[in-house]
Amino acid sequence: MAKDKSIFTCTECGGTSARWMGKCPSCNAWNTLIEGSSEPAAGKNRFGSVHASLAPTSEVLPLAQIEAADFERHPTGIDELDRVLGGGMVEGGVVLIGGDPGIGKSTLLLQAVDALQRSGMNTLYVTGEESGAQVAMRSRRLGLPDSQVPVLPEIQLEKILHTLQSRQPGIAIIDSIQTVYSDQLTSAPGSVAQVRECAAHLTRTAKSTGTSIVLVGHVTKEGALAGPRVLEHMVDTVLYFEGDTHSNFRLIRAIKNRFGAVNEIGVFAMTEKGLKGVSNPSAIFLSQHAEPVPGSCVMVTLEGTRPLLVEIQALVDSGGPSPRRLSVGLDRDRLAMLLAVLHRHAGVACMDQDVFVNAVGGVRISEPAADLAVMLAITSSLRGKSLPKGFIAFGEVGLAGEVRPAPRGQDRLKEAAKLGFKVAVVPKANAPKKNDKAFEGLTIYPVDRIEEAMQVVRGLD
Ligand code: TYD
Ligand code: MG
Repeated sequence: MAKDKSIFTCTECGGTSARWMGKCPSCNAWNTLIEGSSEPAAGKNRFGSVHASLAPTSEVLPLAQIEAADFERHPTGIDELDRVLGGGMVEGGVVLIGGDPGIGKSTLLLQAVDALQRSGMNTLYVTGEESGAQVAMRSRRLGLPDSQVPVLPEIQLEKILHTLQSRQPGIAIIDSIQTVYSDQLTSAPGSVAQVRECAAHLTRTAKSTGTSIVLVGHVTKEGALAGPRVLEHMVDTVLYFEGDTHSNFRLIRAIKNRFGAVNEIGVFAMTEKGLKGVSNPSAIFLSQHAEPVPGSCVMVTLEGTRPLLVEIQALVDSGGPSPRRLSVGLDRDRLAMLLAVLHRHAGVACMDQDVFVNAVGGVRISEPAADLAVMLAITSSLRGKSLPKGFIAFGEVGLAGEVRPAPRGQDRLKEAAKLGFKVAVVPKANAPKKNDKAFEGLTIYPVDRIEEAMQVVRGLD
């Protein structure tokens, strides 16, 4: 099957191999090698044709002599987006924005680019997935019928680069990077090699011309940007859309940001007229129960700089010979570990039970501070007893059964008190000093170990 110069490229790490193998020789992932050469077509210089201007060598200078200019930022005017960007688009910065199909990537970017165009910036929207008419339809829907954003329906890299060079826009959106292909490469459009090369060319153009470029990337079902995880290291900022398409709320999280803080999130609601920022999101991820129900525990997670209250739900139900452990929005390996800790240190056995855990509203919680809430929700479901009304818990739980403090615990508690929560079980090190007015109305139970937390909860029945 393999031709003379065929190369197989790994969709995970971008490593290459001369022949097909089940396992990638570089990162050991299985079934990730796909045929596609990153070699240029014979006889052509893949940089020469487009980027002859890159040739001059730069001078070597000591750091102290290099001027440390601060980045020029252009706020998009969409506060929640500016927050994750670290203050706005940076000149020459490249942003990769990923997310499931239909989550709102094109919508948000059209809103942002329109706002920038209105503020006087020269913009460009390159659409490879939709026709100009479809983009126009979206802009009407967004209530922007008079939008002056220039739209280029194009998927060929060389033509896009040419337009970028000739128009010199302040910002260009490439929707999406997976549709862009270069004639210079032999591999098929959409292949890893194509996506990587095209992104590299666009990145170089951004740096040399000062145009900020936003690359839209699709995410596969497994949660990885289709193929080009390899793009993440190339760009300055990586943003991911989270949230399930069935609920109205969307989160944008900064996974990497050379110009700002990571893990910062922006919260949006999808409305009839596009995405609207939610400036005070702390309690939107709670489901509305009139009375407390078993298997539900609210935690305060800290996303970037803002605390968010999120409900963790658990369902423990008798399972078959090999019981299932499933989690949505939380790490499954961590769930298995917490179940073992529950058994060993708190005497709560779920061996013959199916255990399902869910973070409400499609949020993904990666911080270990969710441990205590997960364990309390599981125990609550197992016992069929709900936690008290207005109850919150957070804290990391270790393998030895110890409850470890969460970063910025007091901020979390303050947020819970502000929203009228009444009872909190938290790590001892996070408990505030007595008589602090900020926590008024909140009864705080500091605990050191998971057994203690269980005891406190039983005492509250
Ligand atoms: P879109 O931006 O096309 O998603 P992506 O580019 O990430 O694939 O968003 C599509 C969804 O958003 C679609 O299901 C319709 C919905 N939507 C609204 O609810 N309101 C709106 O104003 C717009 C433009 C889209
Ligand atoms: Mg789209």
